[in-house]
Amino acid sequence: MITVIKNIKEIIQVEHTIRKWVAGKDMASLETIKNGFIEIKDGIISNFGSMEDWKGIDDWNNTEIIDANDGMVFPSYCDSHSHLVFAGNRENEWEQRLKGASYEEIAAKGGGILNSAKKLQNTGEEELLESALKRADEIIKMGTGAIEIKSGYGLTVDTELKMLRVIKKLNELSPLTIKATFLGAHAIPLEYKSRKSDYLDCIINEMLPRVAEESLAEYIDIFCEEGYFSVDDTERLLAEAKKWGLTPKTHVNQFTILGGVEASVKHGALSVDHLEIMNDDDFKALKGSECMPTLLPSCSFFLGIPYGPARKIMDEGMPVALATDFNPGSSPSGNMNFVASLGCIQMGMTPEEVINSTTINTAYAMGLSKELGSIAIGKKANLFITKPISSYAYIPYSFGHQHIDKIMINGQLQS
Ligand code: NIG
Ligand code: FE
Repeated sequence: MITVIKNIKEIIQVEHTIRKWVAGKDMASLETIKNGFIEIKDGIISNFGSMEDWKGIDDWNNTEIIDANDGMVFPSYCDSHSHLVFAGNRENEWEQRLKGASYEEIAAKGGGILNSAKKLQNTGEEELLESALKRADEIIKMGTGAIEIKSGYGLTVDTELKMLRVIKKLNELSPLTIKATFLGAHAIPLEYKSRKSDYLDCIINEMLPRVAEESLAEYIDIFCEEGYFSVDDTERLLAEAKKWGLTPKTHVNQFTILGGVEASVKHGALSVDHLEIMNDDDFKALKGSECMPTLLPSCSFFLGIPYGPARKIMDEGMPVALATDFNPGSSPSGNMNFVASLGCIQMGMTPEEVINSTTINTAYAMGLSKELGSIAIGKKANLFITKPISSYAYIPYSFGHQHIDKIMINGQLQS
């Protein structure tokens, strides 16, 4: 079956030669084709170009035509950092914050991640899957076509495995491309308070082997932060995870600079995420590495903490990725359009830079740059068609609005 999308006002983020990422000054460039068509065969982009060059239809019986009606086509967003599987919400903690309590104070009193863990421990697999499927549908409607999802609200052997099995089921049931990350080291459970190294032993000796044997995750994560896990803990866990074939994608530099960036890069991290604050050593560690600096502006927005230094990272010639961090505590939104708006409005990035940082660069940060992140021959047909809009900049500019008309995932139009 061949599908042709015709009458596209502009195809955004076309790629003739597949790149691993876009970095530095190149992030300001974005290749597009005006008045274009895209051809899709068996879910994969097989051709694209300008309408003038379209050869027409060979086999009417085997061709489906989609008229873009002068809308634009974007590659679907890749969201390379999320905690989309969770139980319940934490709006009560948010209300406490509105009255003056800090995120750290709430967490120190057993709220925060431990609160979500308690909720998840008391929620069955079916219910978790059902709520995750709903969220998956919501983000699909907002233009996301691939997402990385972390465990980390289980914090016991059984519940961490339960979370990862839900992620695996979700991957089977949802059209989204999903990558799983094992984040047993998200917080120290109350039972292990003041026995942190025993909990790390449990992660390393009991959880990791099961996660690897059941092929439940490709990536390993740890929250390297004051009151959570140290740089030594990070080094230890990442070294052990490597033996099981898991690649690091870590939470670092959210509130404190401890040296987690350097440790993660040293252990071959695919990405380091958060980076609300960075020092010279962090820049030095990242420069020339294969690690994607990933910023989470919705988390900065929701918690009122600094936005990561996107401009400085690009000025140093490095790539930047932007993801949602969708979770009930620090970013209860999985909207990549809003992330793009924050990138421009709060971080001083240009529309071209935010489009690069939410498509190709996030695809890299989840090991998918050969499959997703641009309109290129051979890549999956995960894309969205906009309603008529004046320019691609209109998407991040008109924050909070929704301009998507049709969504295609794996070549299939979504209803
Ligand atoms: O990425 N920083 C650690 N983890 C999450 C927040 C988790 C939560 O508050 O539930 C984050 O912001
Ligand atoms: Fe996170």
